[in-house]
Amino acid sequence: MVLVTGGAGYIGSHTAVALHEAGFMPVLVDNLHNSKASAVDGVRAIVGEDIPFEAVDICDKAALEALFGRHDFVGVLHFAAHKAVGESMAKPAMYAANNVGGLGVLLEVASAHDLDNIVFSSSCTVYGEPEDMPVAESAPFQRAESPYGWTKQACERVLEDHAAARGAAHVALLRYFNPIGAHPSANIGELPLGVPNNLIPFLTQAVSGIRKALTVFGGDYATPDGTCIRDYLHVMDLAEAHVAALQWCLDQPDDQSVIRPFNLGTGKGASVLEVIQGFERATGQKVPYTMGERREGDVVAIWADPSRAANELGWRTTRSLDTSLADAWRWQEKLNQEGSN
Ligand code: NAD
Ligand code: UFG
Repeated sequence: MVLVTGGAGYIGSHTAVALHEAGFMPVLVDNLHNSKASAVDGVRAIVGEDIPFEAVDICDKAALEALFGRHDFVGVLHFAAHKAVGESMAKPAMYAANNVGGLGVLLEVASAHDLDNIVFSSSCTVYGEPEDMPVAESAPFQRAESPYGWTKQACERVLEDHAAARGAAHVALLRYFNPIGAHPSANIGELPLGVPNNLIPFLTQAVSGIRKALTVFGGDYATPDGTCIRDYLHVMDLAEAHVAALQWCLDQPDDQSVIRPFNLGTGKGASVLEVIQGFERATGQKVPYTMGERREGDVVAIWADPSRAANELGWRTTRSLDTSLADAWRWQEKLNQEGSN
């Protein structure tokens, strides 16, 4: 069994499907702070099996201890965290307590049960505004722009120190670029609570008429069309990377600690305007948008050098930007039908 913390969330739920497809049984653990139990039902509908779900807060040590008593885990995929950059500016202590504190509690309980295969959700935010493009894992960290970004840097450091102290921990630090899209069945997808901060959920809600128009944050950057560039990857590609990373952990020598960061992206950047055009091409829907001011804290352009993940995990993305956008739209249409926005 594989412990999936944050398993009812966006990336955790898709990864549960990929794990099951690969023959692992995920145990989904979530306090439903930023998700709904319906995501677990969605996973069950896709895989056709009763995937275990445990409503546990990972900061609750006693509850985690009890969880480890009920299941025998071969590895943990640790997604559970708060992830809103803006909210983290207003509530830095809450982000430190949940993201860094939560990891600490999890590691204490996991090591007491000799669970040493750990896959951690990090982010390309650790690089800040990189000097060289595409960005490789060797690029230095910049001072984090937000408390959220700092928690990812801090957690990587906690895991490094933990691995050194344990002597037999196998840790994959997965630095995600921009995951988008949904499972093609539209049984699961991204469920933003309130007004979305991220581009794709805002865009699909704008197309649905839930929001007036998408504001493109800045059209005067030093990029070919003046808008910011990101590396958008399909969430199912990202999900499959976690299976590869778990297998990589399981393949490491038992008597040695190994910790390694991996960039997870397509290796290609797309501007905000290219995403809008791609969405219109992929779905036939018109995107209502206006050009607006720059958003504070935005990196101008970042995309991954994903060659380490290709060489060492045997993973690469297989789904195109248009496929990702079409899947995001299919999911939004389902939410619209259900009236769940
Ligand atoms: P999400 O909010 O959809 O999922 C996170 C889940 O963790 C939620 O279901 C939430 O309820 C749960 N959770 C939070 N704190 C918890 C706690 N103390 N105990 C138990 N459950 C808790 O977010 P996501 O997009 O699926 O992100 C998953 C991970 O990937 C996070 O660590 C996030 O920081 C990281 N990440 C996400 C992105 C992105 O663009 N989505 C990019 C880089 C990194
Ligand atoms: N954007 C708009 N309008 C919007 C929303 C976004 O133009 O309404 C633009 C942004 O300026 C940016 C691009 O779309 O250029 C992508 O923005 P997102 O908010 O979707 O993604 P970010 O790259 O800003 O943020 C993501 C994750 C964060 C993480 C960060 C690291 O969501 O968790 O990458 O760079 F910290």
